[in-house]
Order: sequence, then structure tokens, then C-alpha cells
Amino acid sequence: MRVQKLSLKNFRNYDEAIFLPHPSINIITGSNAQGKTNLLESIFYSLRGRSFRAEKDKDITKWQSNRTIINTEVHLASRNFNIQWQISERVKKFFLNGVETARSELDHFGVVMFSPEDLYLIKGSPQERRHFLDFEVGSLSPGYSKIWRQYTRVLSQRNTLLKEIRDRRSTRDMLDVWDDQLFRHGAKVIYLRLQVLKKLIPIARKIHFSLTGGAEELQVKYLSSLVLEPGLTEGNIYQVFLNSSKKIRQMELQRCQTLLGPHRDDLSLAINGIEAKTFGSQGQQRTVTLSLKLSQLDLWHHEFGFYPVLLLDDVLFELDQARQAMLVNKVMNKVQTFITTSVTGGIEENIRGAGVLWQVHAGNLTQKEEF
Ligand SMILES: Nc1ncnc2c1ncn2[C@@H]1O[C@H](COP(=O)(O)OP(=O)(O)OP(=O)(O)O)[C@@H](O)[C@H]1O
Ligand SMILES: [Mg+2]
Repeated sequence: MRVQKLSLKNFRNYDEAIFLPHPSINIITGSNAQGKTNLLESIFYSLRGRSFRAEKDKDITKWQSNRTIINTEVHLASRNFNIQWQISERVKKFFLNGVETARSELDHFGVVMFSPEDLYLIKGSPQERRHFLDFEVGSLSPGYSKIWRQYTRVLSQRNTLLKEIRDRRSTRDMLDVWDDQLFRHGAKVIYLRLQVLKKLIPIARKIHFSLTGGAEELQVKYLSSLVLEPGLTEGNIYQVFLNSSKKIRQMELQRCQTLLGPHRDDLSLAINGIEAKTFGSQGQQRTVTLSLKLSQLDLWHHEFGFYPVLLLDDVLFELDQARQAMLVNKVMNKVQTFITTSVTGGIEENIRGAGVLWQVHAGNLTQKEEF
């Protein structure tokens, strides 16, 4: 898969820009605050329909203007697609090949992003790791995003109901109506997460082992709020969810919260048996994150037959030489990659013949040199 052309109108500090990226490696350089991350954000937005950093859609619209247009031409599986987003304060429209359609059509387009904030995947709260499960692991399973949205909707309705029961505005038997849906969608969410992790973890372990020259073994485990034996079917998980939930119903009524389910689950990440969150060095945590990101590229290729686009925001040059070389080697001529940096030097040697160096200055993008 590759982005062939990106046209921006009023996106962040870009007035109007046309970007014709190289099919392999694109290094985007420039001083601080010139629009490097904004450019990656626009690619991510066009392929996912949301930003990885803006809280509100309107944040991406250039100040003092009222409408953003992102137009992207993507080549995928021998076909060309035109993706267009039109975003204004109240209206957000998505067109695929000129036809307005549902955002879920984008599930087939792959993008993997790695930025310094991703270190929170290791260091942060369980919520950060659930974000990884829902938006990254989940994107490797067709249909996941839909079922996850259904689950979160039922969950919030059930929590509202728990409050209404406390306030005597509703009765306990109303819970049964929501419970079946909660267990059904929740069991599916957990089942799909486990299915993807079963394939992703061995790949991540292999990558991590080779990134560390055989010195480190990565262990990734799904930590569920339910007691789950290995190899359970979706039906089994439903049953466990139902039985466990019944036992804590009184507590849920007291706290007005749904205490069990995939929204309480987490991942454990360890290196040679030691928790990476508490004991891993910065470099180790970065390598774990990198292994989890790169494993997505391989699994995506294995499952769907093509590599997604890779966005690296200020992370490549923070890696040591050996890891940089391994990463470049992995993506070169296979994965279309966009790398931002405010410093260059050295890396161009590794990618001779496979990339272009771009320069961004105050929202203007120019090609600096072709390697
Ligand atoms: N909606 C917007 N309209 C206009 N400008 C914006 C908008 N949102 C952000 N900016 C500006 O865009 C500029 C560039 O941001 P960006 O994050 O892309 O910088 P960068 O080149 O990645 O810098 P760094 O090297 O520091 O990461 C910032 O100065 C920011 O103030
Ligand atoms: Mg930046």
C-alpha cells in the first residue's frame, strides 16, 4: 500500500500543499514547529478519520479558516483509491472515490504510527494499553471496531442504569436487558483481542529478540478482569463473564459501575521476566514499543497481503545505530515510510536509492534531495 499524492487545504499550518511522496522512504526534516508532525497527522487522519493528537476535529483546521480538505490518492492491491475528508466546525464528510460513505470503509487501509507518546504504552496507565488493544491490535481484526463501539455503548448505558437504580428511578430487573448484550459484545471483544494477540505476540517476540541481539526475551500477556483459561471459545468467555458478573452485582450497584469486562483489562509487558513498566530503561521501553509496532507490519502483511504505511515521528534518530539499521532494512522497498526529524546525518547512507529527503519550513514542503 502506498500514498501517491496528498493534497492539503487549511490543515494545521498548511495553507495549501501538494505532496508526492516516494514509494519507499520519506525523511521529513525541518526546524521545530514547521509542520513535520502536522504532515504525518494529515496522512494518519486521511487513513483513520481521526487525529492521533487533536482533542477536537476543529483543532486541525488552520486558524482563521473554517474548512479543511484532505485529499489522498492511495494505491492498494493493484487499485487506486481517492480518499477525501471535508471538515468544518459542524460537518465532517468522508468520500471514497467521490462517493460519500461510511468511515468503516477505511478499515482496509493500514497505517502504523510510532511517536514518542507511544512510550506511554509501556509507562502509562492500563487505559493507554487498552487504547493500543482497541486501535492497533483491533485494526488487525476486521469487524473489531464495530463490535468495540457496540460494547462501549452498552457499557455506558448500563452504567447510567446502575445510577438510576441507586436513585430509585429504575428497577433492578432492567439490568437483565443490558446484561445479555454486555456479555455478548464483551465476550466478542475479548475473543477478538486474544485471537490477534495469539498471532502478534510471537512475531513481536522474534523482532525484539533480534533487535536486542538475542539479549532480551519479550513476554506479553493479556490480563483480564475475568478469570480466563487458555483456549476458550467466544461462548465460553460469555459464560465466564455472566457467572462472574452475577457474583459482583451487589458491588456494582453500590458503586454504580460495571466492574468486569474488556474495559477493565490490561496487557503485561516484561523483559526477561521483569516488568518493563517499572524496571525497564528508556531504551528498553522504546525497543519494546518498536517491537510491538513492527510486528503489526508483519502481521498486517500476513493477514491481508500488503504492508501498511508506517509513520515515525521523531523516533528513528533516538534509536542506536544497530536498531536504526535494522528498522531501515525492514522497511526498505517494502513499506512506505514517513520519518520526521529535526536532525539528520548518517541515516541517508543506509537508504541510498530508496528515499527522498523533504524539507518543511513554515508549512511549505520542498524536496531537498533524492538519495
Ligand atoms: N490549527 C492550526 N492552525 C495553524 N497552525 C497550527 C494549528 N495547529 C498547530 N499549528 C502550528 O503548527 C506548527 C507546527 O507544528 P508541528 O507539530 O507540525 O511541528 P514540528 O515541525 O513537528 O515541530 P517539532 O520538531 O517541534 O516536533 C506549530 O507551531 C503550531 O503552532
Ligand atoms: Mg513534531
